[in-house]
Amino acid sequence: MHIHLTLNGEQTTWDTAPHELLLTALRRAGMWSVKHGCETGECGACAVLLDGKLINTCTRLAVQAHGAAIETLEHLAPDQPGRRDNDLHAPSPQATLHPLQRAFIETGAIQCGFCTPAQLLAAKALLDQNSEPDEAQVREAIAGVLCRCTGYARPVQAVLRAAAQLRGEPVPPVEMPAITVGGLADQQPHAPPDDTPEFPDDSFGGRPVDTLTRTRLPVMVVAQPETHVVNKAETKVDAVKLAKGRPVFTDDMTLPGMLHAALLTSPHAHARIRSIEVAAARALEGVHAVLTHQDVSRVMYASGGQSYPQPHPYDQVSLDSKVRHVGDRVAVVAAETPEIAQRALALIEVDYDVLPAVLDPLAAMQEGAPQIHDEADAVGIHDAAHNRSHHIHVKHGDLEKGFAEAAWTFEHEYRVHQVQQAAIEPHACITYWDEDDRLVVRTSTQVPFHVRRIIAPLLACPCAASASSSRASAVASAANRKCSWRTSAHI
Ligand code: FES
Repeated sequence: MHIHLTLNGEQTTWDTAPHELLLTALRRAGMWSVKHGCETGECGACAVLLDGKLINTCTRLAVQAHGAAIETLEHLAPDQPGRRDNDLHAPSPQATLHPLQRAFIETGAIQCGFCTPAQLLAAKALLDQNSEPDEAQVREAIAGVLCRCTGYARPVQAVLRAAAQLRGEPVPPVEMPAITVGGLADQQPHAPPDDTPEFPDDSFGGRPVDTLTRTRLPVMVVAQPETHVVNKAETKVDAVKLAKGRPVFTDDMTLPGMLHAALLTSPHAHARIRSIEVAAARALEGVHAVLTHQDVSRVMYASGGQSYPQPHPYDQVSLDSKVRHVGDRVAVVAAETPEIAQRALALIEVDYDVLPAVLDPLAAMQEGAPQIHDEADAVGIHDAAHNRSHHIHVKHGDLEKGFAEAAWTFEHEYRVHQVQQAAIEPHACITYWDEDDRLVVRTSTQVPFHVRRIIAPLLACPCAASASSSRASAVASAANRKCSWRTSAHI
């Protein structure tokens, strides 16, 4: 069906399916600043201005935009022929960047930049209505856009700064908090030593206060030598492209001939796969591969892998003949489109031998509880018979002395549910063999070295044998030029 709308000031017509999301239609139209986040309207990364109001595009159909005017970040400061992105201080009004974008860069309000396009639009919507907002109004305006890394102090500072600039008021250079000698962890209130430099009038208890966050700033406890870089504000090298919402994240990428993967996952909490039939899925036109546990090497690994040597237990394989939770991996399909991949999943027939499940951590540790990891080749499980995967004992200070000296002691049992961080960016990955026959992995991670260390053995890559440490792994990889890893999260 056809709909008519105004996109970034231009009349346009879209041919869209009734079920197509506005998010999908905008990204299909090249609006890559509209980020694909949670798909449930919680993170706000996909927000645009619709008739001047900030709305989430992942919970709205494209057809609902019929007759509306949509503004995306691409319209905030349109690209101009002959101007370079990094021309940060080009004179207004011909500047490449909008004052909001400049202020976000200058104040350090951008870390990974995934939330930045939506935060900028939220700020624009506010300033369009209110040219002189206070801090609370700014916080309220951007509250619907979650930030996973920067937080809100800097974006609020940026919006207030841009508002002042747009009113024609002079703004001072951005100053960074001083670095504490001895580390930022030393946050205990204490009287400043005699040689502490003078503090501004709004100091608190001898320590300066951030006027936006009301938190005490670190104290410089000894005189610092004049330096060129340390204690100076520095512009992130990738700040401009992030402030413009360029397609830099994994999910923004598309390659010619790219295949799309889809996972078949377990509907059971605990089951053994008796048989799995994939012939029909493999025969479907557009399907290039269907993999099950019968097709991949059985290499045990630890999925955390946050350090070297990787802590135990090594209790996972890529695809197993047993599933241990609802959503556990059963099969993977690679197809020419996501839709074909989904159709192929529906053609896979799995015969499960459903086993008793453990749903409570204390019950799981009792004698006779169903054993989740009964495989013989797992390495380093602390107590497999009682489902105790790992054991960590941490001792800090003198516990008895602490209790004896405490004014009050409380004895209760506390339980917390499993916590998933607000990742915002989808867990996504694109891989390809490059022109030098290297495997390139572009994925949403902060640490490509961890990804390489975990994946390389699973794929029997040559650099896996050399991965005795992150650095050695990197060197080995460079030397044999067989594995290359790239990351799309710049934090
Ligand atoms: Fe906000 Fe990373 S800068 S999500």
